Amino acid sequence: MATELNAKYLHGFISEEELNSHKMWDYAKIAMESILKKNGAGNDYLGWLNLPEDYDKEEFARIKKAAEKIIKNSQAVIVVGIGGSYLGARAAIEFIKSPLYNNLKKETPDIYFLGNTISSDMTAEITSVCEDKDFSVIVISKSGTTTEPALAFRILRGMLNKKYGGKANERIFVITDKNGKKSALKALADKKREENPKGYETFVVPDDVGGRYSVLTAVGLLPIAVAGADIDKIMEGAAESRKKYLNFSKDNDVVKYAVLRNILHAKGKSVEILASYEPAFAMMNEWWKQLFGESEGKNEKGIFPASVIFSTDLHSLGQFIQDGSRIMFETVIHIKESQNKVKIPEDTEKIDGLDYLDGKFLDEVNYKALQGTVIAHTDGGTPNMILTIDKRDEKNFGGLVYFFELACAVSGYLLGVNPFDQPGVEAYKKNMFALLDVKNPKYDGTRKYINGKL
Ligand code: PA5
Repeated sequence: MATELNAKYLHGFISEEELNSHKMWDYAKIAMESILKKNGAGNDYLGWLNLPEDYDKEEFARIKKAAEKIIKNSQAVIVVGIGGSYLGARAAIEFIKSPLYNNLKKETPDIYFLGNTISSDMTAEITSVCEDKDFSVIVISKSGTTTEPALAFRILRGMLNKKYGGKANERIFVITDKNGKKSALKALADKKREENPKGYETFVVPDDVGGRYSVLTAVGLLPIAVAGADIDKIMEGAAESRKKYLNFSKDNDVVKYAVLRNILHAKGKSVEILASYEPAFAMMNEWWKQLFGESEGKNEKGIFPASVIFSTDLHSLGQFIQDGSRIMFETVIHIKESQNKVKIPEDTEKIDGLDYLDGKFLDEVNYKALQGTVIAHTDGGTPNMILTIDKRDEKNFGGLVYFFELACAVSGYLLGVNPFDQPGVEAYKKNMFALLDVKNPKYDGTRKYINGKL
């Protein structure tokens, strides 16, 4: 497993001399030191740093057992969660298995995700797809109070009770805070377990791991294991990354990535586009956007994280990236090896004008598209760097997750923000609760204010 950063196409934007002598390296050294010494902003949320080695082995074994049970008794699983309690698991399943996972021939259950919107249509469609199947529910919420998953879970609880009666609770798996005073979900699980100790098996989101850094805990690992992926290998990949990158050096690609994106930002590039040539990376893009967006976008600072899948988006956003406002740079993900080899067949009629591709593999064409695009976009004024990984498997997933989590922490400190909080998320909730007439005097002022504006 290797994750390698190629920055050679940045030379037209940052000369070698400028890069070598840039002050950003000194700041990055300080950032890495405060991560290692755990004395920077948000330092009580650094639990993810040592997770690849230092995780709860007893719980890890329970995760595998629970996954086996679900695989045995369920045709479908509905994973309920939002943000960090949703994106990592879905990204892993699509990256390691396939975006078409549910359509594959397999021994494991179909997996659906709910509670990541308040959409009536999505809720009705997923519940109707699952109601005639044997299904289980994994409900994930660190706080245990988030509205979207709580609503979905209320609906699914009703469905399970109707279908399985007294046995319903044995199909519910809860991942939340360990403290029932903080998490309404934990309090509910504790109550239900008192009634039936076989039900509401519960797993913990560690106190010192924030939502978007939690994919290597039960939050990601249980749904991923249910999809039949090897979670030991994920931890191995993450541990390899930890060993390689958790230090300061100018040759450390995590540090280099954080430094380069901040130098580009200082030069007016305020949007970073993560570009991949593999549709199975689309949800990784979403996970990455949450990680960097929620971690860096605060105090009127931050690099806006955007994403594309090429060559699809070369026929839409490609125009803007080539030619539009020069506010962005691209980080291109190159996956060296595909899971499948597809050879281009010969066309005996020779009528489609593609004879020069006879006998080649699609991968060769896809890679030429990547190389050609990197040069075209660079020439057009959009700086490009390339992050290469070997293939789409468990080890590379774990390795890449750790790479980006560490890079995000270093980069957040370089920007001068706390990369582990998300105060801005509360604003919409306050307004929504006020409008929903939550009976709490603390919303009265907001209600009056919003109603005056609407
Ligand atoms: O990164 C974060 O902390 C957030 O995106 C949370 O994951 C998200 O808001 C869901 O929170 P919870 O797991 O408490 O339901």
